[in-house]
Amino acid sequence: MTTETLRSDSEDTTIALGKEFASRLRLGDVVALYGDLGAGKTEFVKGICSYFEVEQLVTSPTFTIINQYDGVFPDGDAVKLYHVDLYRIDSQEELAEVGFDDCVFAHDAIKLVEWSEKAEHLLPAAHYTVHIATDAIEDTVRQITLGYQTLPIGATKL
Ligand SMILES: Nc1ncnc2c1ncn2[C@@H]1O[C@H](COP(=O)(O)OP(=O)(O)OP(=O)(O)O)[C@@H](O)[C@H]1O
Ligand SMILES: [Mg+2]
Repeated sequence: MTTETLRSDSEDTTIALGKEFASRLRLGDVVALYGDLGAGKTEFVKGICSYFEVEQLVTSPTFTIINQYDGVFPDGDAVKLYHVDLYRIDSQEELAEVGFDDCVFAHDAIKLVEWSEKAEHLLPAAHYTVHIATDAIEDTVRQITLGYQTLPIGATKL
């Protein structure tokens, strides 16, 4: 697992960091975003979507659970983005009901998942992680840790 820690001191910086991060994403990738309520996960996703030139308004899928956006790679190839927020999901049944399994394994989309703690077992073995931590003193400061998670050799994913 490789990690890289960045500092953001404003909403705009977090968006810019999301945009920069997005250049490494390929079709089928999953990004799991971690952090408390209001940490800035959705702001980071806005940055990712801006890299892919998404024209729809990117808002929190708290109630819709899964939002779908249309974007393009810099070379002009189309890409679908699923923006998922599992905060309100409380059971396996609800996960199935909203179609999370199909969504997370879709090969023709990039998946951006907030509160993926609720479905850790359904994430593919290899996925990007974004941890956003607030600062105890400064309101607008965030520590953003980027990682790429893979299962250790020999481990099996349930
Ligand atoms: N450096 C920063 N980076 C990101 N957001 C910031 C920063 N400083 C202040 N903010 C504010 O923090 C809030 C972050 O909200 P956001 O919806 O992105 O959080 P979230 O992590 O997605 O929360 P939730 O779990 O509720 O979905 C926004 O109101 C934003 O303006
Ligand atoms: Mg959010």
